[in-house]
Amino acid sequence: MEIDFFKMTNHNIYIKISKLIYKIVIATSVLFFLTVYTFFQKQKLDNIQEPQFYCGTCMDEMNNPRIIEMNNPNLIKNVFGETLFKNNCSQCHNADASMVVGPGLAGVKERRDEEWLIKWIQNPQKVIQSGDKYAINLFEKFNKTEMTAFTNFREEEILAILEYIDEYNKSQRAIP
Ligand code: HEC
Repeated sequence: MEIDFFKMTNHNIYIKISKLIYKIVIATSVLFFLTVYTFFQKQKLDNIQEPQFYCGTCMDEMNNPRIIEMNNPNLIKNVFGETLFKNNCSQCHNADASMVVGPGLAGVKERRDEEWLIKWIQNPQKVIQSGDKYAINLFEKFNKTEMTAFTNFREEEILAILEYIDEYNKSQRAIP
């Protein structure tokens, strides 16, 4: 009897322990699953970035000048024109009305039409030799200083430079 009783209790303890282990395993896996689930749910939320708007402008655009450039072809062109001007013309010309070696280029688009300007910038001597009155007068006025010919400049490069000159003078006028 005694041995039997001992066996019984022993058996009960085993059942209790295995039930406990079973409960712990279930609880841990539920906990583990919940942690993983909330982690991924949070990551999903973090990845959704709502665009922020400020005064009707996308904050991303305001913070990133490259986006503004991409959305505004004028700006790209002006950077392009400005660089060309500074690298090729600024040693002899100012973008405003003041004289350097050559005349100030402010308002040059009002003085001459585009077609003339393109021909002139690509080859000033050719325009002078063609007997163009305006060109000859200017050449005389500047003591026959020869302007460099930019024969390899494409039309759009010249137009970008001219546009930069316009923009430059507009921006100067905007600042009192
Ligand atoms: C080596 C100096 C020199 C460089 C470099 C030069 N120019 Fe000139 N440019 C002159 C001179 C000098 C004149 C006046 C005419 C003459 O003497 O041939 C002139 C005249 C002009 C005119 C006519 C201006 C007017 O009032 O009608 C334009 C437009 C012009 N240049 C544009 C440019 C551009 C654009 C560049 C750069 C791509 C450039 N020039 C580079 C010296 C230069």
